[in-house]
Amino acid sequence: MGIFGPVKPMVRSKDPDPGHRLKPSLSWPHLIALGVGAIVGTGIYTLIGVGAERAGPAVILSFAIAGAVCACAALAYAELATMIPTAGSAYTYTYSVIGETAAWVVGWSLILEYSLACSTVAVGWSGYLVGWLHAAGVDLPQLLLAGPHGGGLVNLPAVLVALGIAAMLMAGTRESATLNIVLVVIKLVALAAFVALALPGFQAGHFQPFMPYGFGSHAEAGGTRGVMAAAAIVFFAFYGFDAVATSAEEARNPGRDLTIGIIGSMAVCTTIYILVALTAIGALPFTALGQSPEPLALVLRVLDHPLAAWAVAAAALLALPSVILVMMYGQSRIFFVMARDGLLPRALARVSPRSGAPVLVTGITGLFVAAVAGFFRLDEIAELANAGTLIAFIAVGGCMMLLRRRAPEAVRVFRCPWPYLVGTLAILGCLYLLISLPEATLRRFLIWNLIGLGVYFAYSRPRSALLPSATTTGG
Ligand code: ALA
Repeated sequence: MGIFGPVKPMVRSKDPDPGHRLKPSLSWPHLIALGVGAIVGTGIYTLIGVGAERAGPAVILSFAIAGAVCACAALAYAELATMIPTAGSAYTYTYSVIGETAAWVVGWSLILEYSLACSTVAVGWSGYLVGWLHAAGVDLPQLLLAGPHGGGLVNLPAVLVALGIAAMLMAGTRESATLNIVLVVIKLVALAAFVALALPGFQAGHFQPFMPYGFGSHAEAGGTRGVMAAAAIVFFAFYGFDAVATSAEEARNPGRDLTIGIIGSMAVCTTIYILVALTAIGALPFTALGQSPEPLALVLRVLDHPLAAWAVAAAALLALPSVILVMMYGQSRIFFVMARDGLLPRALARVSPRSGAPVLVTGITGLFVAAVAGFFRLDEIAELANAGTLIAFIAVGGCMMLLRRRAPEAVRVFRCPWPYLVGTLAILGCLYLLISLPEATLRRFLIWNLIGLGVYFAYSRPRSALLPSATTTGG
């Protein structure tokens, strides 16, 4: 046992038994589609407004920075995903490479990534629903459209979409490759239509001054500002690529296809985001974008394309729930693995014989996601989700480099190019994004992890499945 607690033995993800090996059927175009499908969501549809408010027109730089950092982390992720069984992702890698206590911190942070990302997307979805219904002449009571921070009682549409997706997962719904392709097309066509229709309204004057709040993140009267402050929030728009990294086993030629799949989906998303951001800011002053819960629809309405605004909102309404589905699925698997390791009550790892889904843990996740979505502010939730994700990415960069030193000869189905440079850039980039988050978010993140460590030492550590003294009755 190291200073970070017991270390879980590493098992290679390729099952030698052909009956249990996934068929290598994906090549890089599939992987790019998979990545884009999981990545494009509330980040570009809604948080672009928050980003513009924080950085001004230079939010374009913020997207480029966040995309580059994510690409480095994604490459490290892919190398580990091919060496260590995928269930549990960054938590499992850290458990095998560093030790249990560090793995706990990462797992506890992943709860923020997956659960709060679901809440964020649910709130973003609600924003588009309200505008869409309003355009159709239906107005819901204000009290049911925002939590107390927005002068309401609860954001009911956000609660309902979160609970609806949880119910689907409990019934055993999985993402389907075909549906994913359909949704990717819907999302991309909507963004392409947005660019095509809003570009004629482009006014170069909206880009002056380009960087009104400077580069570094700093607190101002109206909130945190600067290019890095915006990068720290639009970072949200890039994650979800784990979908590509974890499909390593199914890639036809992992070494080549994963590199192209990961770099490709990051490049495609970054390009789309920058185009959408350029168009949106060219069409409307950046201050107007930040005020809107449905900025892309707003731009189209202001430019007098009400029908297109309605259609883009409809595309968001159709496609965003799939991001919640993927993320909530990921969350339930993290809880599941932590419970199987004895660190959370084992009852959570019980799988329903009927649906094959971990019903209890999915239900709890759904309630948590819905409660956060119902009562908290979009940007605050997204920031906390980002903090959790950044910790996981830092761990992944570190684990990848440590394993290169410790086990240079181990078989790597996918090898990260320039591992030490990419790993170091991932870690430093994530640290810079982390400290660019508002102080209040960092404080909340610290409190979350202190609570987590309290739970770990009081409950989990004595029950760890890896301790010789552990009994299987824990929990
Ligand atoms: N990247 C995903 C989104 O923007 C989480 O919705």
